[in-house]
Amino acid sequence: MYEGQFPGPELRVQEGDVLSVELTNDLQEETTIHWHGIPVPNPVDGVPNVTQDPIAPGDTFTYTFRAEPAGTYFYHSHVGLQLDRGLLGPLIVEEREPHVEYDREYVVVLDDYLPGDPRPPSDGGRGGSGRGGGMGGGGMMGDVRPPYEGLLINGRLPENPPTFDVTEGERVRFRFVNAASATVFGVRIAGHEMTVTHTDGQPVNPVDVDSFVFGAGERYDAVVEAENPGRWFIQADALDGNEPSARAVVEYESAGGSGAPQSPSSPSNRLQYGDLRAISSLDGVSGSPDRTFDLTLSRGGGQSYTWTIDGQAYPDADPLQIRPGEHVRIRMTNQSPVVHPMHLHGHFFRVGNAIKDTVMVPGHRGRVTLDFHADNPGRWLFHCHNLYHLDAGMARVVKYVE
Ligand code: C2O
Ligand code: CU
Repeated sequence: MYEGQFPGPELRVQEGDVLSVELTNDLQEETTIHWHGIPVPNPVDGVPNVTQDPIAPGDTFTYTFRAEPAGTYFYHSHVGLQLDRGLLGPLIVEEREPHVEYDREYVVVLDDYLPGDPRPPSDGGRGGSGRGGGMGGGGMMGDVRPPYEGLLINGRLPENPPTFDVTEGERVRFRFVNAASATVFGVRIAGHEMTVTHTDGQPVNPVDVDSFVFGAGERYDAVVEAENPGRWFIQADALDGNEPSARAVVEYESAGGSGAPQSPSSPSNRLQYGDLRAISSLDGVSGSPDRTFDLTLSRGGGQSYTWTIDGQAYPDADPLQIRPGEHVRIRMTNQSPVVHPMHLHGHFFRVGNAIKDTVMVPGHRGRVTLDFHADNPGRWLFHCHNLYHLDAGMARVVKYVE
């Protein structure tokens, strides 16, 4: 935990502020912090042995960077499986001039809860005993899901859901963060439409939906008009697991805390990536690329549990070399049956008409193309944000060369 809290304390700053965070490592093992989604300078990106030496037990390291652009982000350990032990917290960079109006906001951190010690699947993480094994559970065929004890919203199991108070007539902004290690969530709010206004912190033309699906590392902001008094569940289902849905309660002042909250109906108007249109444009990615990588995402062969990018399992993997100023394209094909939420450090990328930093590549030959501008020199990790896939090799370093 950070500061004895789970999720870690919310860090909230104004766009352009200089954020300085001093991390003291009281663990018995090495650690680092990564500022997921913020294009920080390379030396403070928090990737062990790539951008810094891991912080030894008892040591302190200070991360200092300018918090921009505005958006919904999170921070987390980038060492081993520490993210799945609760080393995560929300990071909100407030805009100076929001492009949407809202009266109040709530941060909604979704997570999968593993009370024990996470282990890589190769040495026993299969969970063995029926529940939580997840083998063959919808879409995870051929994959392994840790034996999660449940799904959380803001650190709370569905038996004890957090409550978000609203007043009739308000516009309420929810900042949804998928901070899970191995869960794709489908999110709905009973009795209300959601107007999606941002993805991965970046503003989009508002889209009205009744649900959205997001992978580990993705974020959505949605505004909800509070005009249906009562008590309503926000519900997040694991698309690839069988744990009970994560829940929170939206409670109107006028409902006075009485009556059982209503559950959402089945989704009929789910957000698609194709619906997302960034409001601003990303510089340096129009026209044809200067450099293209075609990468296959797949399960490694052989005895050991590995996940590979183009047949190589990190750290035994070649860097993807680029030059400053280039328009770089990465085309991915997923040869496995499971989703891979792919995240690029240090840069936003364009995918379709959206600007994002994490994108799901669907299983069964799903293809996704992303484009980015090489404007932040250094060595940056590009990886699957399923922590167990990352741990089993699904990563590459994107390396600037002169
Ligand atoms: Cu949140 Cu390397 O990732
Ligand atoms: Cu993956």
